[in-house]
Amino acid sequence: MDRKKFISTCGWGCVGLMSSSMLLQSCLSVRYLEATLSGSFLELPLSAFEVVKKDKKSLRKYVVVQHEKLQYPICVYRLAEDNYQALWMKCSHQGTELRAYGDRLQCPAHGSEFTQDGKVQNGPADQPLRTFPTQIENHLLKIHLA
Ligand code: FES
Repeated sequence: MDRKKFISTCGWGCVGLMSSSMLLQSCLSVRYLEATLSGSFLELPLSAFEVVKKDKKSLRKYVVVQHEKLQYPICVYRLAEDNYQALWMKCSHQGTELRAYGDRLQCPAHGSEFTQDGKVQNGPADQPLRTFPTQIENHLLKIHLA
């Protein structure tokens, strides 16, 4: 193998290794949970945002909530102690299920990106995501589906 071909091969190998590592890390950090449906509310405990590592407690920025009766999951961002944003993970372009990456939702179909308040960051989507009102009661976060 000549030098140029060797460097090219190693370069792509490194890119692949770094990409899979980042993808694995982002998958591991997303918490998916089944919420309870109560009337027109999806309910989840606020403790769902807690992470305990080596006796240290921290809080996740978001969780992805699912329920068998929902066609798409809902991404819930914790913006502040008493401020949560619930977003329907259906792309407003052509309806593909979105993926959560940090403070953005990305569409695997055509690359649209949405901010944590549902606004379009990058097209081709040109409409914001559907949002749901939230409220806190007795250590439960309630997402109003109506
Ligand atoms: S379906 Fe999401 S960008 Fe097209």
